[in-house]
Amino acid sequence: MENKTIDESRQGEVLDLAIEVNKGGKKLFLESYGCAMNFSDSEIVASILKDQGYTTTTDMNEADVIFVNTCAIRDNAEQRVRQRLNDYRKAKRAKPEMVIGVLGCMAERLKAKFLEEEKLVDIVVGPDAYRDLPNLLDSAQDGRKAVNVILSKEETYADISPVRLQSNGITAFISITRGCDNMCAFCVVPFTRGRERSREPQTIVKEATELFEQGYREVTLLGQNVDSYLWTGGGLKKENPTADELKDATTFAQLLEKVALVNPDLRVRFSTSHPKDMTDDVLHTMAQYENICNYVHLPVQSGSSRLLEMMNRGYTREWYIDRISAIKRIIPDCGISTDTISGFCSETDEDHAETLSLMELVKYDFSYMFAYSERPKTLAERKFKDDVPEEVKKRRLQEIVDMQQKHSAIRTKDGVGKVHRVLIEGISKKSKEQYFGRNSQNTTVVFPKGNFKPGDYANVLATSCTTATLIGEAV
Ligand code: SAH
Ligand code: SF4
Ligand code: F3S
Repeated sequence: MENKTIDESRQGEVLDLAIEVNKGGKKLFLESYGCAMNFSDSEIVASILKDQGYTTTTDMNEADVIFVNTCAIRDNAEQRVRQRLNDYRKAKRAKPEMVIGVLGCMAERLKAKFLEEEKLVDIVVGPDAYRDLPNLLDSAQDGRKAVNVILSKEETYADISPVRLQSNGITAFISITRGCDNMCAFCVVPFTRGRERSREPQTIVKEATELFEQGYREVTLLGQNVDSYLWTGGGLKKENPTADELKDATTFAQLLEKVALVNPDLRVRFSTSHPKDMTDDVLHTMAQYENICNYVHLPVQSGSSRLLEMMNRGYTREWYIDRISAIKRIIPDCGISTDTISGFCSETDEDHAETLSLMELVKYDFSYMFAYSERPKTLAERKFKDDVPEEVKKRRLQEIVDMQQKHSAIRTKDGVGKVHRVLIEGISKKSKEQYFGRNSQNTTVVFPKGNFKPGDYANVLATSCTTATLIGEAV
């Protein structure tokens, strides 16, 4: 089995060269919107096109193919993409043979309708159909519009080595699950990314190992709900695994350990944790391994149990607070961040006050804060009225943002006077004489370069700070 794999990959290399000679010189301009998952997918897309002889370019005007990997999470995410299409329109006018493809979640949501709405688009392809891109491109280059938005129950692109885009050579993403089975009432993701499936653990460990060998020093394991990761051998997560299947299964805590064991100098992060599924097991594994970062992103969405129920999040305010207590108990110096939604259907001032009081209780290091945006087909769109006026959504959001800013400042200040182990990622934007990196809790730290180089770990004594950045010197 092992030999066969090696032979096949060698054959692949030779084929690569042959294709490059035949098709060489074609250029792909690839732009990504949305979450880390989408950026990670773009690296798969770049890999599939590299095998077709394409190199990537950052100049859209010299591209033969423009791909935009899109997000559909909120209406404004889609509006941004539509505006960007106008820039592609100009580029295509100057070079009519240029192929324009829309990829990702918005493509999946709109399907062939996209071609009707936007005449300039040649290809529409959903997140599970990227292996079909060479065929779709052939069609488009022959002048036939092409669509593939079939969602899969198995596809994890496990065997594809991503081409690292815009990489600093130090940090990288690794997808561990695809899709989502949760059906939160506000969320479009289950419709755009399909059923949840877990990727085979060996392929994840292999990718992490290869990254380490290439000089990378941090990997972030990605999934919409990493805690529901479960490999039972078949790929698709079993609804009700039998005791026998579970015996051989790999849980998220076990996967985390396997990746942590790749090398003590490889930092491991993950995102996103789900409050209903995050177990103490995961927290104990984090506490056990120095190289698993002390940082949890635990989206709360709302502090009101009534709203959480309507959102179909699967937990109450009390349950969430219990998970926060578990984090603080098991990993006392853990960084914690969250996502919030303001103005979800029927939200009252009292519900909103509960979100604020929960924030006061947790004192998050950081938050992604949003105003509710109704999405077609979702449970909320079908069952509830989007009845909170826009200006009320905005006002509540602003109150949340203000509170978070206050808390971020306090949390950052807590780090002053302490020594932080920082993984150096590159030169600071503000000064060529300074490096920047992050501590375990995900706070950015800047300090004078000294004799360090990117990829090194430095122990930095923080001497001052801004709201979100620690400033210090290596000790
Ligand atoms: N899987 C992650 C979230 C992915 S989407 C989780 O379960 O936490 C990222 C964030 O976008 C969500 O946490 C939520 O805060 C926000 N979001 C999703 N749908 C939204 C909508 N319709 N309106 C506003 N914000 C939304
Ligand atoms: Fe959306 Fe909920 Fe799935 Fe997150 S867990 S992607 S919010 S449905
Ligand atoms: Fe957006 Fe799709 Fe990610 S909708 S947030 S790109 S999963």
